[in-house]
Amino acid sequence: MRKPMVAGNWKMNGASEFASLMSTQLNQHAASIGSVDVVVCPPTLYLAQVQNDAISYASAAQNVHFEEAGAYTGETSVAMLKDLGVEYVLVGHSERREMFADTDAVVANKVAAVIARSLVPILCIGESLEQRRNGEAFEVVKKQLLSALQAVTLKGGEVVVAYEPIWAIGTGETATPEQAQEIHAYIRSVLAAEISAQVAEKTRILYGGSVSAATAAELFSQQDIDGGLVGGASLKIADFKTICSAAADL
Ligand code: 13P
Repeated sequence: MRKPMVAGNWKMNGASEFASLMSTQLNQHAASIGSVDVVVCPPTLYLAQVQNDAISYASAAQNVHFEEAGAYTGETSVAMLKDLGVEYVLVGHSERREMFADTDAVVANKVAAVIARSLVPILCIGESLEQRRNGEAFEVVKKQLLSALQAVTLKGGEVVVAYEPIWAIGTGETATPEQAQEIHAYIRSVLAAEISAQVAEKTRILYGGSVSAATAAELFSQQDIDGGLVGGASLKIADFKTICSAAADL
């Protein structure tokens, strides 16, 4: 069985004081619920602090460069993340695809670089509102998924997939549990058909897009939803704890 995961993506929010508050409350909470992998994704500047303070949860970078080292001003390598003890990296978030030129090719390079050093990419995929309206959601998600995984050989568990429909991110408009489950089941069927049944069975698929304390439990109760990638609600500690508990109750 897949262990549920809840990851909180702070995006460009938070500061050291918030990270301290979070660790005080979340270490205790994550330890008490036990059966969930809780992950916090702070801005790069606070990763060392979060990683040092985290006892019963893990840390994730929001981005990484795929090159080993060199003249890439402002960038962070996978080796640097590993050096800190960071376990996960968000790759291909729609905000990076839209605003920072993370093309499918760049995303595939990042996924390969992260897996090569035994960190786990949380690969984000998802369609825009226009693509959904045009009936292209399945096609878009399949293309993003397979192109991101083209340079790696998987046995299962090396990657976490996050389905984040762009129209649901930061809008307060969550996909309905049925809409999300439909795409999650499809993602799993693509993994089974194109890679292997084992990879499909072992890959955790998270839902992201306006997950809240109110909506988490019903979303997570869907068969192919293995937890969530939470933006705004991960900045409210009480709400984030409620969302983590919702995954524990599965
Ligand atoms: P919101 O939960 O704020 O919609 O953000 C989702 C997201 O982009 C997480 O990566």
